Amino acid sequence: MPSVLISGANRGLGLEFARQYAADGWRVFAACRDPAKAVKLADLAKGTEGKVTLHRLNVLDFDTIDALAKELSGETIDVLLNNAGIMENAAAMPFGKIDYARWEQVFKTNTLAPAKMTQSFVPQLERSGRKLVVTLSSGLGSMTDNTDGKRLKPGGLYLYRTSKAAMNMTMRNLSFGLRPKGIAAVVISPGHVRTDMGGPTAALGIEESISSVRKVLDGLTIADTGKFFFYDGREYPW
Ligand SMILES: NC(=O)c1ccc[n+]([C@@H]2O[C@H](COP(=O)([O-])OP(=O)(O)OC[C@H]3O[C@@H](n4cnc5c(N)ncnc54)[C@H](OP(=O)(O)O)[C@@H]3O)[C@@H](O)[C@H]2O)c1
Repeated sequence: MPSVLISGANRGLGLEFARQYAADGWRVFAACRDPAKAVKLADLAKGTEGKVTLHRLNVLDFDTIDALAKELSGETIDVLLNNAGIMENAAAMPFGKIDYARWEQVFKTNTLAPAKMTQSFVPQLERSGRKLVVTLSSGLGSMTDNTDGKRLKPGGLYLYRTSKAAMNMTMRNLSFGLRPKGIAAVVISPGHVRTDMGGPTAALGIEESISSVRKVLDGLTIADTGKFFFYDGREYPW
């Protein structure tokens, strides 16, 4: 039975990843900040005979990452999904009004935590036949797309854009460190999706985005390590 560890699995894209992998019979380690309040996730876990389990993880608190790695030390993890992420309210933070404490928080959540997660779960990944690390990225982290006339409006969102761009580089760098172990690391944009983060007017529904992302992930091999994908399988320009 293949297995996946998902951060931020209590809502949005993380919950949909958990739902779809569970429906396909995967072993799902569903991690979130407060399992006691994760009602939708608990409902999903019910009736799966232990195939979906809830685990406490606050990616801003690295002690909880270490604790989860210890709790799962005997497990095999085929796919590590670094999904948890945050962004700032762009309107409240134009140039000149940047909140630097919030920038540190966004950077720790979106950039440092995926690196720490990956480092902490190498033993479980090494035990698997699949050996895949996936981190949710965004077109907003692309240098190429932060240009006049491109698909996305340029400028703004300093905290989120820089954290995803730095995460992209972190994962590309890590891909070289992990390759000798046979572990692939990729980043993927789910597209603009109607979640709390994406907002109600985003182009894609959650089910559509995650079905498509999963199809892309299913087709990856170690030859794809270090790449940046779009949810439809195209490579994204850095
Ligand atoms: N939606 C989009 O259009 C879009 C586009 C591109 C990329 N992405 C990326 O996709 C990922 C998921 O986004 P989403 O749209 O599902 O966002 P969302 O609806 O805002 O959900 C974010 C998830 O991350 C969790 N999280 C945040 N900080 C955390 C922390 N410190 N520790 C543990 N969990 C934490 C949240 O948990 P709580 O409930 O505890 O807050 C929640 O489960 C993010 O990395 C995001 O950057 C989304």
